Amino acid sequence: MVELKGEEKRRYVGDMFSRIAGRYDLMNALMTFGMDRRWRRQAARRATEGLRGPVLDVATGTGDLALELERMAAPAEVVGVDLLDPMISRAARKGARGSRPRRLTFMVGDALSLPFPDGSFGCVTSAFSLRNMPDLELALREMVRVTRPGGRVLSLETMPGTKGVLRPLAGFYFRRIVPIVGAVVTLDVAAYSYLPRSVDRFLSPDALSRLFTAVGLEETRHQPMALGAVHLHWGDKPL
Ligand SMILES: C[S@@+](CC[C@H](N)C(=O)[O-])C[C@H]1O[C@@H](n2cnc3c(N)ncnc32)[C@H](O)[C@@H]1O
Repeated sequence: MVELKGEEKRRYVGDMFSRIAGRYDLMNALMTFGMDRRWRRQAARRATEGLRGPVLDVATGTGDLALELERMAAPAEVVGVDLLDPMISRAARKGARGSRPRRLTFMVGDALSLPFPDGSFGCVTSAFSLRNMPDLELALREMVRVTRPGGRVLSLETMPGTKGVLRPLAGFYFRRIVPIVGAVVTLDVAAYSYLPRSVDRFLSPDALSRLFTAVGLEETRHQPMALGAVHLHWGDKPL
């Protein structure tokens, strides 16, 4: 349940993503009409502006943002870390496709206790994952800790609050249609009912921006995409 916190939330979220890992990419493409690829591209572009050092994608899932980062961050190395082996093994298979040498490593690890020394990365990203963290502030503090001074922390996240006349339509689509499509595609009724509830209960874009500042980032900014249903947040770690 969305109301869960701490260990219970970690277990709930972990079980859910383990169950749907095999259909996760298909559902992303279906429910966003393929737009998630463009959002990830924009996120990767913003994350790697002025990049110095390797890149970390936290809660990387099946690795799509990490793959996009690898394309844009060349010649920097990219690491993707996720709690779940079923997600990471899919990411690793995608990363191994093709014949060119990759600068990409996928590994299992917990966002609340990242297995890296302080200041290891030039930028640290997270896509559609902060909502799922058992402790949001700790997850962000960990992202900041492993970022080197002058480096960037970025989040791409689904958020409450599509603007304008399309708001009721977007709400209907997200709360009524997506759970049905999700249930049919993944045969899991709970997972895609959790999604709209987790978004409704998440922070507003302004509140997430304030949290970015509170955990020590400066020049914090955010940018709406998809009529405000998705937001990019980014901030830089002080030198
Ligand atoms: C909605 S998916 C997002 C995956 C990917 N970032 C993307 O853009 O598609 C959320 C991911 O967060 C991961 N996750 C949840 N809690 C985590 C934690 N404590 N540490 C690391 N990963 C976690 C899940 O395993 C899942 O892969």
